Amino acid sequence: MTPPSVTTDDGAAAEADAGYSDAFGGDAGAKLRYVRGMFGRIAPGYDRMNNLMTAGRHHAWKRLAARLADPAAGLPALDVCCGTGDQAFELAKLGRGPVYAVDFAAPMLRIARDRAAANPARTGLAFNEADALELPFADARFSAATTSFALRNVTDIRRFLSEMRRVVVPGGRVVTLDMIGAPRGPLAPIGRFYMNRVVPLVGRILSGDADAYAYLPQSTDFVPSAEGIAQLMRKAGLEDVSHRSLALGSVAIHVGRRPL
Ligand SMILES: C[S@@+](CC[C@H](N)C(=O)[O-])C[C@H]1O[C@@H](n2cnc3c(N)ncnc32)[C@H](O)[C@@H]1O
Repeated sequence: MTPPSVTTDDGAAAEADAGYSDAFGGDAGAKLRYVRGMFGRIAPGYDRMNNLMTAGRHHAWKRLAARLADPAAGLPALDVCCGTGDQAFELAKLGRGPVYAVDFAAPMLRIARDRAAANPARTGLAFNEADALELPFADARFSAATTSFALRNVTDIRRFLSEMRRVVVPGGRVVTLDMIGAPRGPLAPIGRFYMNRVVPLVGRILSGDADAYAYLPQSTDFVPSAEGIAQLMRKAGLEDVSHRSLALGSVAIHVGRRPL
């Protein structure tokens, strides 16, 4: 599975679109069923796996993504593809307003709800089952929307971002946090070894699910480059798009704004 290469700005977005659907022979339904089933299966070990894959750094990245989303006081904010809830919890910790979170894998949502219920500080959160490509919310319902580690999993990234744009208020921010490829720089070989060898091995031992833990590191191949994501955000109708790289260039947070 070859990562999409970046040529021109338009090329980056086009190749990103093509690259990720190619992995399932262009069959969006097959990918959707695979992804929903896989996250349903690995839900019980997902948090442990997330800590393993990011060496625990994902909490700090999600805190930063929530701050960059900058939700307005008194208005609801949204986290899409919420999984077990970490990104939504970071939005809630800002204390600006209620937080809605959606995912299509019921076992992930059950864990998110249990985690919220177990921590009295996690108030004002609502976790609901929904497809990110058809959000069950009215236009301009939220002051901001976030998503973390979801781009490689959805079947149509542009539509995904368009839906997030649609449900935020004009001027509101859409923020994505995602892996964008292998680590770069002098420490890159260690990072690649960790992602491609250690994560699948330890994941398999801990969960017994070899398939899922091979898919997760490989699926970064289907995430567009940082410039590709920025292009897709612009094509989805967002403006003032910017991004910052983290973790030796292997992770990026993108911020875009719905035009006024
Ligand atoms: C890698 S997990 C990320 C979870 C969480 N955001 C985090 O950072 O820990 C990706 C999540 O996206 C969800 N997902 C993928 N495609 C989706 C879709 N079309 N609609 C709703 N959820 C989706 C999966 O069920 C899974 O929980």
